Amino acid sequence: MAKFISIQDAISKGHGEVSLHGWVHRERGSNKLKFVVLRDSTNLIQCVFERTLFESSWDEIDKLQIEASLKITGELKKDERAPTGYEIQVKSYELVGKSENFPIAKDQSVEFLADNRHLWLRSRKMSAILKIRSSIFAAIHDYFHKQGFYEYHSPIFQAVQCEGGSDLFSVNYFDKKDVFLSQTWQLYAEPAIFALENIYTIAPSFRAEPSKTSRHLTEYWHAEMEMAWCTFKDIQKHGEKLLKHILKRVLERNREELKILERDISKLQPSLDKPFVRMTYTEALKILKEKYGMDVEWGKDLRTIEEEKLTELYDVPIICTHYPKKVKAFYMMEDPKNKETVQGCDFLAPEGHGEIIGGSQREHDIEKIKDRLRAQGEDPAQYEFYLDTRRYGSVPHGGFGLGVERVVRWICGLESIKDAIPFPRTMERYKP
Ligand code: 4AD
Ligand code: MG
Repeated sequence: MAKFISIQDAISKGHGEVSLHGWVHRERGSNKLKFVVLRDSTNLIQCVFERTLFESSWDEIDKLQIEASLKITGELKKDERAPTGYEIQVKSYELVGKSENFPIAKDQSVEFLADNRHLWLRSRKMSAILKIRSSIFAAIHDYFHKQGFYEYHSPIFQAVQCEGGSDLFSVNYFDKKDVFLSQTWQLYAEPAIFALENIYTIAPSFRAEPSKTSRHLTEYWHAEMEMAWCTFKDIQKHGEKLLKHILKRVLERNREELKILERDISKLQPSLDKPFVRMTYTEALKILKEKYGMDVEWGKDLRTIEEEKLTELYDVPIICTHYPKKVKAFYMMEDPKNKETVQGCDFLAPEGHGEIIGGSQREHDIEKIKDRLRAQGEDPAQYEFYLDTRRYGSVPHGGFGLGVERVVRWICGLESIKDAIPFPRTMERYKP
């Protein structure tokens, strides 16, 4: 049995006999020669079949269709004209899986590609994104492990809201009326810092936001951290260091993929090299007024358009802090210097990408938490388990959540967040 190597390893070897397996990416031929560009997860390579060597199976070779799977053995050599600079003269082959007429060809509509997502995953574009996505997950795990955080897991079925009741997904849970899919791990993470102190997770979060924007999914992967004994500054520092760590990893490992995506790397480099910009919400309003003549009433949340305009002014993320208390979640700590604002921060990515991280110092005054829950129409009695965190040895603590697809979208420079995840779930799409 031949030992199969990857196309990339074959190219690195550069010459001699190799055995490869993969899929037909392109094919063309005459009645003497057949050119097949073979694809595997690592790269592409041109393979040539000469009719004189395969007279008895020429019909099968001639009819090879895009996406058929093949095993081949042949002689590798450099060839400037071939797509990846090498060519294989095929000596023997086996057709493993025939392919029918592959439905995806050039210039198909976004809708068509979404309907055929299971096939579109094989494209150069999608595989480049999926490889970068994999690096980003690895970088997040790596960052937190190196910083001494424990990986910890919270339930997905939850009976409380944390980020506003309006975008909860209800679940048919044995006819119970108060079971929802998790919006965040947070209310189940805070209890665990009393055991583990510094924890993180990467898990799915769900938001029933009826928005059809380029940055909202109904199901997304959420990297969250929670820390005991920390200050609001510590939270921001970790967010910045984590994003730099992710960028560094992708720029080290995924140059090829970024090239396939035609991503301008010079737009990413400053975020690795320079400190992020820090400003308060109040300063942000002033800048919007001065630079763009945009009037935002103090107390209103920043909208997408305002975030976009703001981020266009800088080549690194903005850490925007001290938002008005009334637009932020009930658990965010009041700022002692201005009780109308909270110690919460949003990280806004450059080039108009907007919020990629949301975090805060947590309020520890139990009465304030109850008041703010009531103000949102919630019954504090439902939150007893959470309020216990403030009853038994409460300590200063805080954390943040990073939307992984938002970071994938920014780093890959994608038009829409939908391409940052294999099977996007949005208001309108939950199939295939
Ligand atoms: O700002 P959010 O709502 O904050 C929280 O959930 C906190 N409990 C996190 C924490 O402190 N542990 O969400 C955090 C991040 C956002 O900054 C955004 O990147 C992402 O989650 N996000 C979404 N990503 C894709 N689609 C959506 N619908 C998203 N909603 C939030
Ligand atoms: Mg937020």
